[in-house]
Amino acid sequence: MRKKVDFLVIGSGIAGLSFALKVADHGKVLVVSKTKIGETNTSYAQGGIASVMYEPDDFEKHIEDTMIAGDHLSKKDVVRMVVENGPDQIKQLIDWGTNFDKANDQRYDLHREGGHSEHRILHHQDNTGFEIQRALIEQVKNHPNIEINDKYFAVDIITQHHLGEITYRWRDDIECYGAYLLNQETEKVDTVLAKVTLMATGGIGNIYQTTTNPTIATGDGIAMAYRAKGIIENMEFVQFHPTSLYNPKERPSFLITEAMRGYGGLLRRRDGELFMKKYDERGSLAPRDIVARAIDNEMKNTGEDYLFLDVTHKDAEETKAHFPTIYNKCLELGIDITKDWIPIVPAAHYLCGGIKVDKKGRSSIKNLYAAGECSSTGLHGANRLASNSLLEAIVYADFSAKHAIKKIAKTEFKTKIPNWNDEGTSHAEELVLITQTNKEVEQIMSNYVGIVRSNLRLKRALDRLELIYRETESLFDSSTVTRKLCELRNEINVGYLTIRMAMARKESKGLHYTSDHNKLRTKR
Ligand code: FAD
Ligand code: SIN
Repeated sequence: MRKKVDFLVIGSGIAGLSFALKVADHGKVLVVSKTKIGETNTSYAQGGIASVMYEPDDFEKHIEDTMIAGDHLSKKDVVRMVVENGPDQIKQLIDWGTNFDKANDQRYDLHREGGHSEHRILHHQDNTGFEIQRALIEQVKNHPNIEINDKYFAVDIITQHHLGEITYRWRDDIECYGAYLLNQETEKVDTVLAKVTLMATGGIGNIYQTTTNPTIATGDGIAMAYRAKGIIENMEFVQFHPTSLYNPKERPSFLITEAMRGYGGLLRRRDGELFMKKYDERGSLAPRDIVARAIDNEMKNTGEDYLFLDVTHKDAEETKAHFPTIYNKCLELGIDITKDWIPIVPAAHYLCGGIKVDKKGRSSIKNLYAAGECSSTGLHGANRLASNSLLEAIVYADFSAKHAIKKIAKTEFKTKIPNWNDEGTSHAEELVLITQTNKEVEQIMSNYVGIVRSNLRLKRALDRLELIYRETESLFDSSTVTRKLCELRNEINVGYLTIRMAMARKESKGLHYTSDHNKLRTKR
């Protein structure tokens, strides 16, 4: 099947849906997601969305906190732009029907998280992302120009490569004409032509064994842009959340929000020691990379599989009111968080890098924009400040939409695009070839490219991944496309990029910590 739309949006999280809503009055929009539209990282966000709301907070403080958390690798002009656009985009979310909690005085109840010098996290209890996703879904479903398809899995974007022009070398005139989308019902690959394509495919958490990310986070958009010779950057900066619930049988790992530490939660070892002050005077509220590394170090030194977060000293009713999702989840597992310490372990959580975009959300590929976690805007630098990602996604979706609206007026559909070529392929009979390789990728990334890295571990990871890459490309060339096979291929691509960029960075910086270039540097 072939189809033409003005705007093709790949991904239905906060970035994709807010972009769709902003462009929909200007043309026909197709939003695709590879599974139910609500199954996104966005829906899992707990803590909230950061924005300057009231005095004594101000833009300069939010900018400074973002720069410090990012180990001063963030682009200051980008940080300023995102922070200063925050309040308008929060208002937009509220206008679209998002409910943020209010205090008794009717002002928004603001939380504080690690690395923030002020209370500035708007939230809806401890399930903010779910509330944002709910409001956005309601809006897009009611817009006559927006079509939603949750059966479409994007396989690759269409470029000159598919017109027979082989683009082996990097060039700056690559154009995106739409995408090849696998219809998971018919098992056929459809050709969707678009004047503008937005990549909003989210993160890469599933390349690790332990992750807070739902299974959709397999780095598809980044891998597609990389295969199309787009510029990808900062992939070495993978953020591990310090506190996911220790429950080895569960995937994704359930998050214990950082807001709990903002609320007064304390990190403890089994013997009760409050170890964080040894690493940083901000204690349990130090930036996330520092806390995750400290926990990793304590676990290695004590041989424990997990440490603890303690909120038992707080008022029980207040704890239940602020964190009902976490309270109920833990209770199901026999942990009453008002009386028991919560067992926690770090988990892969967020990717700071991705598809490089400029201040208008444009990637290096013409007519291809990127927003949200799959993009690299320059906001996060070497480490993201908590709750800055929902903010970045909505602000950059807005920048991209404004530019894309102007763009479609001057853009024609590309003609003569061939259909997907699956000549000579057949169904891969042995699923084990995919599932086993998947496990290997997760093991390689977790054991060699985790919180603490070294040259030796990275080299091992690269050697092993290269072998897996060759095997999987050969399987891909001979097989009819399936979602599982494509996801594996994408995970290998983004794992490879993470390793190569980690090897290229010759210093410890933010989330990239290597034992070869630094003694345990925790403070900045
Ligand atoms: P997502 O919301 O992940 O959406 C990705 C979409 O892309 C999905 O619809 C998926 O189906 C689709 N997709 C992917 N690949 C394909 C493909 N090949 N074909 C078709 N569709 C595809 N950030 C904060 O700022 N504050 C928080 O409190 C917070 N808490 C978090 C808690 C958890 C547990 C997690 C996992 C993350 C949290 N984050 C938080 C991070 C934040 O939620 C994400 O960075 C953000 O929601 C990403 O939004 P997105 O629109 O870029 O992608
Ligand atoms: C959390 O609630 O701790 C997650 C916040 C974030 O990832 O920004």
